[in-house]
Amino acid sequence: MKNQKVLTTNYTKINGDFKGKDILSSEQFDLLSIKKLFSVTGQMAAIAKNARPSDLLKGKISTLLFFEPSSRTFGSFSASMKQLGGQTIEMTISSSSMAKGESFEDTIRTYEAYCDLIVIRHPEVGSVQKAAEIAKYVPIINAGDGIGEHPTQALYDLYTIKEKFPNVNKLHVVFFGELAHYRPVNSLAMLLSLYPGIKISFVSPPQVKLNQEVYSYLKERNIQFQELVNIDDVIGEADVLYVTRVKKEFLPAKLYKQIQGKYSVDKKLVNKMKKESIIMHALPRVGEISTEIDNDPRAVYLKAQVRNGMYVRMALLKLVLKG
Ligand code: CP
Repeated sequence: MKNQKVLTTNYTKINGDFKGKDILSSEQFDLLSIKKLFSVTGQMAAIAKNARPSDLLKGKISTLLFFEPSSRTFGSFSASMKQLGGQTIEMTISSSSMAKGESFEDTIRTYEAYCDLIVIRHPEVGSVQKAAEIAKYVPIINAGDGIGEHPTQALYDLYTIKEKFPNVNKLHVVFFGELAHYRPVNSLAMLLSLYPGIKISFVSPPQVKLNQEVYSYLKERNIQFQELVNIDDVIGEADVLYVTRVKKEFLPAKLYKQIQGKYSVDKKLVNKMKKESIIMHALPRVGEISTEIDNDPRAVYLKAQVRNGMYVRMALLKLVLKG
């Protein structure tokens, strides 16, 4: 696991034109594409909030192919299609013929015959990218590939940050927790590197520091960042505190035991934060953030961050399927 490659780059760039393109990595995005996506996201939020009937994706079908458990990503992609009048085919590994031994290749080629787009989550790095090479007729969206990337998560995380702080360039973003196996950190750090004035702190136990490839990605782009062990060294300066879960499913048992329960965010820590800051978590959380923080106005994880997941995914589906 330690030397596993996590990032694949040099995909087709979005360049402001989403139609028919695979969404595989944060690296595909530039500021123009993000501006366009977030502008459409505002329209999508209005549709969802006002329960306005929409037929923007009427007649379109997306397959959700999930080989790992998911609540938010699966639920929000499913809801997004339905909000826009489209339909879904919803498959998990146990409900597909892969459980009988069918290959990944045959599975992708079968589903692309039934739908207009496939959303895939898979435990192996690079598997979603492989699906994009297999699929000839429909775009593929990466809903998380192992310890690699989770670009749609990062897009709605960035949208949530920009809602509170329109000028991302001036921010100090602090990632806190197990960073080595946490794909939203990889994808969000890559998006944040589009803002040259940003400062990023990666705070983690020493055994689970930021992935070396992401480290190099930021270095190559001259982003100001630091790696730390003690959260108290930066908590008072954080505009955004982004907390992570220990990814039990990707960690060797011995390392999991060493890390689990060794860090958490409680009232005492949050009291050291700026009044104008936000606390984020991709969720699910398993004890890293005390529930006593949930009603703090700075906590956005079960509020705006989750809701924005659906709005941004609605916008992405609309732009990829219809332009
Ligand atoms: N944030 C996220 O990807 O959550 P799920 O695993 O529940 O989809």
